[in-house]
Amino acid sequence: MAEKEQQATHPMAPTNGYTRSDAESSSAAHGGARHQRKKKRNKCLLYIVLFAIFQAAVILIFVLTIMRLRTPKFRVRSAALTNFNAGTPENPSLTAAMNAELAVRNANFGRYKYRNTTVEFLYRGTPVGQVIVRGSRANWRSTRKFEVRADLNLGVNSELGNDLRAGIVPITSQARMRGRVDLIFVMRRNRSTDMNCSMEIVVATQQIRNIQLSSSPFSSSSTKS
Ligand SMILES: *[C@@H]1O[C@H](CO)[C@@H](O)[C@H](O)[C@H]1NC(C)=O
Ligand SMILES: *[C@@H]1O[C@H](CO)[C@@H](O)[C@H](O)[C@H]1NC(C)=O
Ligand SMILES: *[C@@H]1O[C@H](CO)[C@@H](O)[C@H](O)[C@H]1NC(C)=O
Repeated sequence: MAEKEQQATHPMAPTNGYTRSDAESSSAAHGGARHQRKKKRNKCLLYIVLFAIFQAAVILIFVLTIMRLRTPKFRVRSAALTNFNAGTPENPSLTAAMNAELAVRNANFGRYKYRNTTVEFLYRGTPVGQVIVRGSRANWRSTRKFEVRADLNLGVNSELGNDLRAGIVPITSQARMRGRVDLIFVMRRNRSTDMNCSMEIVVATQQIRNIQLSSSPFSSSSTKS
């Protein structure tokens, strides 16, 4: 290319029969330079377009991941019983202190501030104990865990005799936690989340097993309050 340009700057140099071809190559070089400039311009345009596409992709990813509002999850992680006292199938009763580890999982890119929340424990639909979780916050993309203690008293349900005979007493826990997600510190959105867990008390071992999340029909909806 440098050679060609040199030739182009000396179009009159040799007059030895090669002139014509020199002239030809000179004009070809001229066209080549124009072609180069055009190519450069096209390249530049291409870079601008690619950059715009790249930027759009970054913004799209940002909106789809970081700005997306995710409903926090509230659940019982584990539980143990102390002060366990069970009656007989003929004379049914059951009292125990439940020490449970609860967790609020916040997958948002922003903290979740939740308010005081009552967690209710039920035995076949009858409330048998409750605990109040003090309002606090779960940091962004993290799980806040805490211990609570609830005193359970199951003496009021007529099915307890049968369950004691079977050796397994089903318990559920329910709560609606209300709070607010602060996305990227600025966008504030109210979000509530429902706990709806089930578990089983094994009478013989005085333990709790099989803690499961029941999928609640409300858990992913409610944006208000
Ligand atoms: C939450 O509960 C604590 C004590 O349990 C109480 O001091 C506080 O006022 C409550 N906050 C709200 C907003 O009710
Ligand atoms: C909790 O889950 C059970 C079983 O899936 C369901 O019958 C019940 O309606 C749920 N309760 C709430 C409050 O979501
Ligand atoms: C969010 O909840 C707070 C506290 O209850 C309430 O004052 C506010 O109006 C709610 N905002 C929306 C948009 O629902």
